[in-house]
Amino acid sequence: AKFTWVDKDTCIACGACGATAPDIYDYDDEGLAEVIYEGDNNRGLTEIPEDMYEDMEDACDGCPTDSIRIADEPFNAE
Ligand code: F3S
Repeated sequence: AKFTWVDKDTCIACGACGATAPDIYDYDDEGLAEVIYEGDNNRGLTEIPEDMYEDMEDACDGCPTDSIRIADEPFNAE
């Protein structure tokens, strides 16, 4: 299983991740990215389906500040 989360402390609102993986990442009022998949609300607790792994990994690789986290276990982020 894979889970993802955005570290908003380092996100610079570049906008790449939501363009690459719009079903997973969207932006808050300040333009900072957050995980929106299935109402995750950037908690990193929602399992991402396998057919979205490629988009997720492309978004992660494309983030200029390495703010996108991916792990095999759920995150415990705020
Ligand atoms: Fe932020 Fe990186 Fe996305 S800087 S907007 S998390 S590509």
